[in-house]
Amino acid sequence: SFSHVYLFEQFWCPSSLIRERNIFQKHFHAKQSDVLVASFPKSGTTWLKALTFAIVNHKKFSSTENHPLLTSNPHQLVPPLYTFRGNIHDQILQLSNMAEPRVFGTHIPFPSLPKSVIELNCRIIYICRNPFDTFVSAWAFFNKIKVESLSTLTKEEAFEMFCNGVIEFGPWWSHMLGYWKESVARPNTVLFLKYEDLKEDVDFHVKKVADFLGCSFTQEEESDGVVESIAKLCSFEGMKDLEVNKSGTINFEIKRFENKLFFRKAEIGDWVNHFSPSMVEKLSKIIEEKLSGSGLSFKMHS
Ligand code: A3P
Repeated sequence: SFSHVYLFEQFWCPSSLIRERNIFQKHFHAKQSDVLVASFPKSGTTWLKALTFAIVNHKKFSSTENHPLLTSNPHQLVPPLYTFRGNIHDQILQLSNMAEPRVFGTHIPFPSLPKSVIELNCRIIYICRNPFDTFVSAWAFFNKIKVESLSTLTKEEAFEMFCNGVIEFGPWWSHMLGYWKESVARPNTVLFLKYEDLKEDVDFHVKKVADFLGCSFTQEEESDGVVESIAKLCSFEGMKDLEVNKSGTINFEIKRFENKLFFRKAEIGDWVNHFSPSMVEKLSKIIEEKLSGSGLSFKMHS
């Protein structure tokens, strides 16, 4: 939700997550082979989780038959490092039993990640999306899950909070910049990707992620079409029509979600259908103000 969040370690955090984060900080021990898929919510997390899972397991599972992604939602296969419910100690135990390399998802800003993740140089893949589409995606999502605090807000009020950075895991500009700077300083540890770039050329990025994770495809695998079949397996069109994603649910973060909520339009530039000229002007100014000089920029239209 956009409200009922508290400022914690310089980001907006729901109170339940503050407790979990502290327990994880104390009891979660990363392994060197762990991979983290990090993102600001609604930036393409589901897609990158699917791709990363398929890439690290490409020798184990064939992408065309019996692949776990055909019967499980990516959020089940790539669990979040923190969830907002259930027994956290049980959760940590379950995570410790996952097959290696373990792939986790997280929306936690870089400076607040578990210490062991940083100390062990665990590889982190971050996905970033232009803030216009991210807002529209978040607005649509929160309206569908009917989080009480948000369903009481109008689109204009929600936009106002987004512009002020007051949204879970926000401000979004600090979130992006935190990972962006790390990717510049430690390119072998943090890979920074953009949703729009992935849409433009997913095959290229499948190879890039594999190279980054040290599990590059062989020449033979490439000529056998392994890269293309992973891209296809994880495509929006392919995933949204799977039975598990049409009718399944997942216990995730705030509540039980229908898997289909994670698949909406998957377009670049859908924001044009939702933004008034004054909203465009306001958000453009904020992007200019917060990100200028960083080298980070966005593609706004397909
Ligand atoms: P839209 O709401 O613009 O359609 P997250 O996974 O971080 O929650 O982000 C959700 C956004 O990613 C949604 O955007 C969703 O449609 C899109 N998405 C989900 N799966 C995708 C896939 N396989 N390929 C491309 N985009 C995908």
